[in-house]
This record gives sequence, C-alpha cells and structure tokens, in this order.
Amino acid sequence: MRLRCADQRWAVETPAKINLFLEVLGKRSDGYHDLETVMVPVNVFDTLVFTEGSTSEVSLHCQFAGSAHRWDRAVAGSYSADFLVPEGCENLAVRAAEALKSATGCQRGIEIKLFKRIPSAAGLAGGSSDAAAVLFALNRIWNLGLSRDELLKIASGIGSDVSFFLSPSPAAICRGRGEIIEPLNGISKLFFVIAKPQSGLSTAQVFRNCTPEPAPRRAGRLVDALRTGNLATCGTSLFNSLQAPALELNSELKAIRRQFNRLGLVGHMMSGSGTSWFGICRHRSEAMTAAAKLRAAGFRQVFVAESPP
Ligand code: C5P
Repeated sequence: MRLRCADQRWAVETPAKINLFLEVLGKRSDGYHDLETVMVPVNVFDTLVFTEGSTSEVSLHCQFAGSAHRWDRAVAGSYSADFLVPEGCENLAVRAAEALKSATGCQRGIEIKLFKRIPSAAGLAGGSSDAAAVLFALNRIWNLGLSRDELLKIASGIGSDVSFFLSPSPAAICRGRGEIIEPLNGISKLFFVIAKPQSGLSTAQVFRNCTPEPAPRRAGRLVDALRTGNLATCGTSLFNSLQAPALELNSELKAIRRQFNRLGLVGHMMSGSGTSWFGICRHRSEAMTAAAKLRAAGFRQVFVAESPP
C-alpha cells in the first residue's frame, strides 16, 4: 500500500482479494471456523481519500467510482442494491478508524471519502481491504507510530480478512480465522475474469451452512503449482469448501457456474463466501474475451484482473 499526499489530502488504493483455496478445518468455541486459505490480491481497487477533520469525529462518504453522484436514495435506484455501502459504524472503514483511536487514545478526527469499485457481499473482501487501508493510512497521517504487529492486532479485531491486506507479500496462506498470515513469495502472476451476480451472500450465513469434512484438504498441491507456474495444476487444485453451501443458498450462482463452464478456462470457482465467481485465464486477452461473453450473457459486474507479479 502506498499513501500519496497533496493539498492536505492523502489517498490510498487498496485491492480486492481472491481465494484460490479455502478449506474449513473445523468450528471453534468462539463461533468462528478455523481455515486454511490461499489468498491473492487482484488489481480491482477501492480508493480512500483522507482529509483531517476540524472535530474529533470520524466521517465516511461513499461514492461508486465512475459516478459523479453520492449514493443517496435517488441515485441508488440506478444501481443494484448491493452497491449500497453503509456510511456509519457498520462500515469496517469507520470501525477501523474508531478502533485505532481507542487503542491509542488519539482524539483527532478524519473525513474519509471512499470511491468504491470492489463489489460488496462478493467474497472479495472489499470492506476488509478498506479497513486495512484506514489502519495503514491513519497510522501515518496521525503520526501514531504503531508497528506492523500492533496494527495486525487491531486488524484481527475488526474482521478475519483485514490482516491479509497489511501483509507486504503478494500472496499468503491464511490460517486461524484467516488472520494468521504466512507470506507466499515467488509465485506466478495470474490472469482472472471475475463476475458477480446481482445478489450477494452473508458470510456468516454461508459459514453456518458449511459442515467441515472429517479429513480436510490442504493447500500444498496448489501452492506447489503456484510456485512452479504449472497453470493446469493450479486450475485442478482450486478448492473452496464454502462453494457447496453458497450454491444451495443462491440460485444465481448455479447460472454463473454454467456460464463459466462454457468458457474453457484453466479453472473456475467461487471466491470466499461468494457471490463472485472467478476463472483463471491463460493470458489477459483470454480474460477479456471471457469477460465480453459474460457481459453478453447478462452479467453486469464483470472484471478483468490480475495478481501482482
Ligand atoms: O471476521 P468477519 O467479521 O469477516 O466474519 C463474518 C462472519 O463470518 C463471522 O461473524 C462468522 O460468522 C463467519 N466466519 C467464520 N469463520 C471465519 C471467518 C468468518 O465462521 N474464519
């Protein structure tokens, strides 16, 4: 993450993630599930712009990037409902700023403008990525001097995926709730097409409907394939144990899977708890062709994306 500053305003871009592997190992006594998941960031970014507030308040204004309008009720009608993003303390970005203030005793305020490109309720961790960007940026803007470990501790209290976005590595194996990060370096760059159906899914509901297997799979085969650049094995090693319960809960996912089956990609799967579905492509032009076919089939939220080299 890189913080840019101009005219007393700071800006940071923060990416979406994709899960290439996600196994639910078991249910924990705190209600969460232990996971083994392989996550890569992709170049679909939200942008956050920070201006120092004149009060001690934290305020957030969201805007769909590409639109000149605020997401007020009138404008919301022209977008799908899942583009609506809360601007109060239900938003993880606000929670991150408040958590930073209470952890440090900082009394300063901030105005955050959030330009949204990452779809919500999509399994792409847009909200978690925004929260990580807030922790990273406000630590600098407010001169708090927190170490990465101190930020990671606050991050894990905000959401299971937040820590991943504070990791400097291009990919990671995440364990525990998702907050224990093992960096994964030296893996090949991947090209993706990603499509999100109109409807989203609640992460908690998908986890509730998932029954952990007695003999869970491990990520080793996929990780080896990523390291050696064996794309075909990457494709056959994709796995997500949240996919079956999500398919039961959301009929649009069955339609999106049927469309991806026709594209002849290296492999395809749902990301995280859904509802976005991604395919691994051999190169960018294959991703662009696949995206055009998905748009022609009626999917409105389609992205061509890549992981970092
Ligand atoms: O951590 P986060 O707030 O993103 O999780 C949302 C919900 O997803 C949790 O309240 C929990 O129900 C479920 N979850 C889980 N196990 C995980 C991560 C999330 O059960 N490892």
